[in-house]
Amino acid sequence: VKSTVSDSLVMQTYRRWPVEFVSGSGATLVDSDGKRYIDLLAGIAVASVGHCHPRIVAAVTEQLERLIHVSNLFETRPQQELADRLGTLSGGKQSFFCNSGAEAIEAALKLARRWARDQRDVVSPHIVCAQGSFHGRTFGALAATGQPAKQQPFAPMLEGFVHVPYGDPDALESAMDDRVVAVLLEPIQGEAGIIVPPAGYLAKARALCDQWGALLILDEVQAGLGRTGCWFAHTSDGIDADVVCLAKALAGGLPMGACLARPEIAAAFQPGDHATTFGGGPVVAAAALAVLDVIEDEGLLERAIVAGRRLREWLERGMPDVSIRGRGLMLGVQLPNASARDLAAASLSGGVVVNDATPDVIRITPPLVISDDEIDRAATVLSEAWDAIRTA
Ligand SMILES: Cc1ncc(COP(=O)(O)O)c(C=O)c1O
Repeated sequence: VKSTVSDSLVMQTYRRWPVEFVSGSGATLVDSDGKRYIDLLAGIAVASVGHCHPRIVAAVTEQLERLIHVSNLFETRPQQELADRLGTLSGGKQSFFCNSGAEAIEAALKLARRWARDQRDVVSPHIVCAQGSFHGRTFGALAATGQPAKQQPFAPMLEGFVHVPYGDPDALESAMDDRVVAVLLEPIQGEAGIIVPPAGYLAKARALCDQWGALLILDEVQAGLGRTGCWFAHTSDGIDADVVCLAKALAGGLPMGACLARPEIAAAFQPGDHATTFGGGPVVAAAALAVLDVIEDEGLLERAIVAGRRLREWLERGMPDVSIRGRGLMLGVQLPNASARDLAAASLSGGVVVNDATPDVIRITPPLVISDDEIDRAATVLSEAWDAIRTA
């Protein structure tokens, strides 16, 4: 163990593995000893187009040499183009650009309250969220997050959030009243261990929002931008959202988030209502444009489906006593006991990076560019590691 993390001057907010990665390409990472790993995590669903994709590197380098930052007091071409591209993908939504998933959620929460104050005169607004959800660590996003253990040390929380069991349409219906200005849901819960809601759940949420005049805000931070085989995970549920939050994969590993909203809702934000110095700067926007190009040009939506099916089949064959769930390349391996940390450790030793999302669930969110050969080898390592743990 080479790590000096325990006595470093970095605040100890993460439980880190004693591995230092120094380079990456595609779905391969290399550590400081030169050991190679197959990356089934992609920096937690970020490096969807693979590590250091040459087109991202070229786009960023070119933009770095031209202009790095001017603030949002001025227009910049990459930001305008990115808003156009995201608008085209999302049925004409407008974008507010920021720097993380939590910030995209903050923008959505503020927009919902602002819109409801204008449109519906709601002074005590409620937002319905799901138990087990994860929306980020800033105070608004944390209040929306349905995990009391993450909130408790920082109480009191922001008011006006109601949490209902995820995937239960009746619970959602019971929570609706005329104080509800928005329903905020992940289309597939990520941090909770890749929980896919039952068919029809998001459509029910859509219908309830329409009935009560509330906004449907979908947190696509983890599931969005191709990971499940669609640009947005909720597309496969046949519905549209009023507000969509993006981050993670958006700029290929550079920090960027976006809150997309239908123009008539976005219009509730007046100049001065919301802002961030770095949001949508030319460098990250250039990276995001290159990410969208790569996803399109390399057929990564289709690849997510095909590769996801292959990986799932390999895991189902090699790990018969676990259950695999998810969509595309957003998979959860449900273990029969709380051995996810041990399995992640054993996989890492075997040269495969995965994440223990919960004590009994392994999260698998590889780069969408992962090859068949990498899938087969990684699944073999995981299966063998599991076999050793199971029979120990
Ligand atoms: C669904 C979802 N929303 C929001 C966030 C917060 O994003 P960030 O860590 O960029 O603030 C995450 C992060 O894991 C997430 O998975």
